[in-house]
Amino acid sequence: MAVTTTSRDGIAVITFENPPVNGMGLAVRRGLLDALAAANADDAVRGIVITGGGKVFSGGADIKEFNTPRAEQAPNLHDVIAKVEASPKPVCIAINGTALGGGLELSLGANYRVANAKAEVGLPEVKIGILPGAGGTQRLPRVVGLETALNMIVSGASVPAAKLAATALFDVVVDGDPVEAAVELLKDKIAAGGLHPRVRDRKVEHDDAEALLAWSRMGVAAASANYPAPLRCVDAVAASLKPFDAGMAIEREGFTVLLNSPESKALRHAFFGERAASKIDDIGADVQPREIRSVGVIGAGTMGGGISMNFLNAGIPVTLVETSQDALDRGLATIRRNYEASAKKGKLSDEQVEQRMGLVKPSLSYDALCDADLVIEAVYEDYAVKQAVFEKIDAVAKPGAILATNTSTLDVDRVAAFTKRPQDVLGLHFFSPANVMRLLEVVRGAQTAKDVMATAMAMAKRIRKTAVVSGVCDGFIGNRMIEQYSRQAGFLLDEGALPQQVDRAAEAFGFAMGPFRMGDLAGNDIGWAIRKRRYIEKPGMVYAKNADVLCEMGRYGQKTGKGWYDYVPGDRTPRPSAEVEAMIVRQSAAQGITRRAISDQEIVERLVYALTNEGARLLEEGIAARASDIDIVYLFGYGFPPWRGGPMFHADQVGLYNVLASMRGYARGYQGEAWAPAPLLVELADASLSFNQYVARPRADA
Ligand SMILES: NC(=O)c1ccc[n+]([C@@H]2O[C@H](COP(=O)([O-])OP(=O)(O)OC[C@H]3O[C@@H](n4cnc5c(N)ncnc54)[C@H](O)[C@@H]3O)[C@@H](O)[C@H]2O)c1
Repeated sequence: MAVTTTSRDGIAVITFENPPVNGMGLAVRRGLLDALAAANADDAVRGIVITGGGKVFSGGADIKEFNTPRAEQAPNLHDVIAKVEASPKPVCIAINGTALGGGLELSLGANYRVANAKAEVGLPEVKIGILPGAGGTQRLPRVVGLETALNMIVSGASVPAAKLAATALFDVVVDGDPVEAAVELLKDKIAAGGLHPRVRDRKVEHDDAEALLAWSRMGVAAASANYPAPLRCVDAVAASLKPFDAGMAIEREGFTVLLNSPESKALRHAFFGERAASKIDDIGADVQPREIRSVGVIGAGTMGGGISMNFLNAGIPVTLVETSQDALDRGLATIRRNYEASAKKGKLSDEQVEQRMGLVKPSLSYDALCDADLVIEAVYEDYAVKQAVFEKIDAVAKPGAILATNTSTLDVDRVAAFTKRPQDVLGLHFFSPANVMRLLEVVRGAQTAKDVMATAMAMAKRIRKTAVVSGVCDGFIGNRMIEQYSRQAGFLLDEGALPQQVDRAAEAFGFAMGPFRMGDLAGNDIGWAIRKRRYIEKPGMVYAKNADVLCEMGRYGQKTGKGWYDYVPGDRTPRPSAEVEAMIVRQSAAQGITRRAISDQEIVERLVYALTNEGARLLEEGIAARASDIDIVYLFGYGFPPWRGGPMFHADQVGLYNVLASMRGYARGYQGEAWAPAPLLVELADASLSFNQYVARPRADA
């Protein structure tokens, strides 16, 4: 049952439940109104307490109902709040735990509120590009003041109730059970007689509201240029200075505009995409993950160190294995330096630094890995090296241990075959810097056991990564797509663009960094090494030559003081390079190309549709299970602009027919073979469908 009522001393205690976070779904809304009506009709009841079952009060709207008719079916949240506010008998909300969004808005409809001191309260709607639409922008400023309400609503951040104990948001904040306190409070208020207060009747007090709002608008405009929601939040909160109903009308208008904005659609797509990515279609809740109590990491280089930190942060001990004492010392020193930098910024205490360092067990012997539940290899990217390492792990790891490779490009099935337990092997592809980047590609080998996959997904949550499952292929989801993007970037230079123009266009579209600035940061020699292998393995794949020539000139990027751009020592500002421009022009001439002016629109379309087209291939091959998985990879691992929702979502918004038409145009141009459209893209465009509507066909090998 969603809603139950008990009675204490003439006070009805209504408890609503809708696991996992008591979302305000249709059954809860109906149940609450029925219970409220029954309590008001019962002569034995003098007052009403409403509380959440379990550990939370309410996480707000029920996300299971999002985008379904149930979300708006009567009664909606407005109706429920209005009935609570109009209740003839006084209502007190007992906030027993987290109260977010609609949950907090519901409480603001009541006469009184009692909270547990640790309960987190907030209005996070702005994070999905909307504003609190059930009176939150009007009622919250009336109880916590204009400035606090602005901060909470514009940032979406939640605050422990204890911090707001002195405001009119709470009548009482307790350490123990708020229901008990709510019952006592109501009994006292009823005994005292008189009217019971309503939040809507309060006035918003502020000495200099105009100055505060102007300051807030300025800050918000600068910080969220690409997002309309924060500014609309300020407008709505500003309207709380008006009479209540006039303010509510402004809130409603802002809510409707934002709900239909492309930015909010993209943010909601990402919100649901992230949740969808954590599920694997053929692995149900009945598959028990294995336990991970300790981890082994092999290789203390760039990746191994960062990977280790993830586990240390989560309190999981790590055995770190290297080939030489020197390499081990260097790796440990880097980990310590990173932690000390965090401590300097006040993010960690000195004690926490020592605690984390205390969890690393450095070793030069593979025998030290015999107890590890999970071993992650991050050694050189070479089959022979990986083979030697996996044979050694296979010999020492305990039965049931999970063996993972952090390879970026190698075949995980081939690596698995180096062991006698391929069912325990998978890829865990972390992104650099591995202690910072949220994305984790979980690579499922042909023989990887289901419980190994389930363990990897659960482990990702524990170390706060956003995991996306990829099948085995060259480059997995992210790098296989970025290769097509990089190829287009090179062709654009051949045809007439310069690095600074391409970067400017990509960054104006919203990429965190254009392809050439990115190359200079990561090191152009990394791509060079990959291409050299490609020239042998995939002779049919054509690349522009300019990136190789750049490396032959010693221009590896920031680390050599020059790359696609020039740099002055101690300054990372990219400066357009005359030498590079001359080289690019020479390369065009060598290909017999007459350079032409290329529009920013063409640049962006070619970069982004190259991603989309390869993404479509990944979908039809079953490497990615859903289009949203691909978007999550790009949003969390490749700096794709969040307000555009990812390369597949963006293409859906443009319309696949239009995307295909542009691609066909580019197919008639220079290096047009690169634009052979993925059959799935053609199929969906012809059927007027979107990637988001595409449901993967069962894999032929499944
Ligand atoms: N650097 C990146 O951006 C990145 C991103 C994702 C994945 N990867 C992958 O991660 C792996 C490691 O890359 P990296 O950048 O950390 O390399 P790195 O050169 O920085 O580190 C590799 C480390 O492995 C150690 N090592 C080599 N052989 C060993 C052995 N037999 N036993 C124990 N230690 C050994 C080396 O001493 C070195 O410290 C590669 O497979 C790479 O493709 C790298």
